[in-house]
Amino acid sequence: MEKLTYSHDSAAAETLAAYYETPPMAYVRSYGCQQNVNDGEKIRGVLQDVGFGLCDSLEDADLILFNTCAVREHAEQRVFGNIGALKKLKEQNPKLVIGVCGCMAQQPHIVEKLRQSYPYVDLVFGVDGIDRLPAMLAERLRRGKRYLQMPEQRNAVVEELPIRRDSGFRAWLPIMYGCDNFCTYCIVPYVRGRERSREPGAILAEFRGLVANGYKEITLLGQNVNSYGKGLAQPVDFADLLNLLCEVPGDYQIRFMTSHPKDASRKLIDTIAAQPHLCKHIHLPVQSGSDRVLQQMNRRYTAEQYKELVRYARQKIPGVTFSSDIIVGFPGETEEDFSATLDLVREVGYMQLFTFIYSKRSGTPAARMPDPVTHAEKAARMERLLRVQDEYAFAAVAAMAGQTVRVLVEAAGRTPGTCNGRLDNNLVVEFPAPESLIGQWAQVRLTGSRAALLVGELAQENTTETEV
Ligand code: SAH
Ligand code: SF4
Ligand code: F3S
Repeated sequence: MEKLTYSHDSAAAETLAAYYETPPMAYVRSYGCQQNVNDGEKIRGVLQDVGFGLCDSLEDADLILFNTCAVREHAEQRVFGNIGALKKLKEQNPKLVIGVCGCMAQQPHIVEKLRQSYPYVDLVFGVDGIDRLPAMLAERLRRGKRYLQMPEQRNAVVEELPIRRDSGFRAWLPIMYGCDNFCTYCIVPYVRGRERSREPGAILAEFRGLVANGYKEITLLGQNVNSYGKGLAQPVDFADLLNLLCEVPGDYQIRFMTSHPKDASRKLIDTIAAQPHLCKHIHLPVQSGSDRVLQQMNRRYTAEQYKELVRYARQKIPGVTFSSDIIVGFPGETEEDFSATLDLVREVGYMQLFTFIYSKRSGTPAARMPDPVTHAEKAARMERLLRVQDEYAFAAVAAMAGQTVRVLVEAAGRTPGTCNGRLDNNLVVEFPAPESLIGQWAQVRLTGSRAALLVGELAQENTTETEV
């Protein structure tokens, strides 16, 4: 694995400055998971580093960059739709540069489609090209020709990329890149490449910087954080990393995603129980409750092993809550398999569930499996799953009324005059509060709920200082 450090590309910056008459503006939009959102923040950082300003509207942009997601077909269609809509802008402003990067751009058939059917797309590069973006952009401007990079896998970790974070109080912190699990339905290992962990020292330095800058919530990112540390010179696992980070003094909380159930260790659970900085919520995607389907998915755990892990965590971590991802209609999923999923969902009791109808991804093993169940039947199963989930979650959320909890105030609420705050267990509460509270901790008394949303009011305790 290559270890690289970003350096400012002054030649590219000069080319860009010479090309644009006024300081150029960039519009960057990220689709998909938090990893991609974090990449988008680095793309903005790198663009600023070579002289771009950032804008929120397509019309103001000299450079438009879509940082894409390939996980499901729907995500890809949305991107193509959005790229299609740029044609008019390009006609109005021939100097506009349009770029597509991220996971979709790691697939040869997508790059080919962009080449043939979207001639106004100027720049295409994959997930590992962010440090070289200034050079690619300069090359595109110098040559006056499209720059379409065929997908490559660099197997590198690039440190010290400039970053322009979206939030001043919540931050994403990648601890590893890529995935080696090859779940049979999933495109991620093909587009994101082999798993590579960052050095603990580099993660700690970034973490310290975030805490020093007042960040209150830091979410550690990786496709399978539980296999953190593989391949590093020093022996270190994910629980060790958490313990190392929790030694940093400050008033912050740590979340992480995603935990793969096959690698979630008792040591990890014990660490969550012991460390006050760690949120008592675990996102633990189960995907299916049927052992047969789990095996076909190459998930490498059984429903019973999963439930055993949940039981252990419940016993060790008072009040812990779980969320999960579920795929409905995996190729060959029978009614019996699906019932096993419903049973598991009922038994575990998830506060939140992210549900997806299986989407065929070309190049993955599942794409070659017989898939006789109709889309209508899959959609009907999805409806049933959502009903089971809502029944549990709405009741569990309602049962929290009366408690007073500490929340991180995240954003304005939907109801005018309110804010949304996130609890340690990842639920959201809406309560009357001024927007000046956004980014602060607050004590909130829970008074009730609307579906999965808690409602509450600021508690008296806010007048005194609160501690973790
Ligand atoms: N690494 C994480 C999540 C990766 S993608 C994990 O292992 O849990 C996020 C979610 O998208 C997955 O958990 C899965 O539920 C869903 N997903 C991935 N590929 C899919 C596909 N081909 N069709 C439908 N859902 C998919
Ligand atoms: Fe995809 Fe499985 Fe890797 Fe998650 S662990 S990214 S679902 S292959
Ligand atoms: Fe999508 Fe790539 Fe993330 S495929 S889910 S953006 S790793």
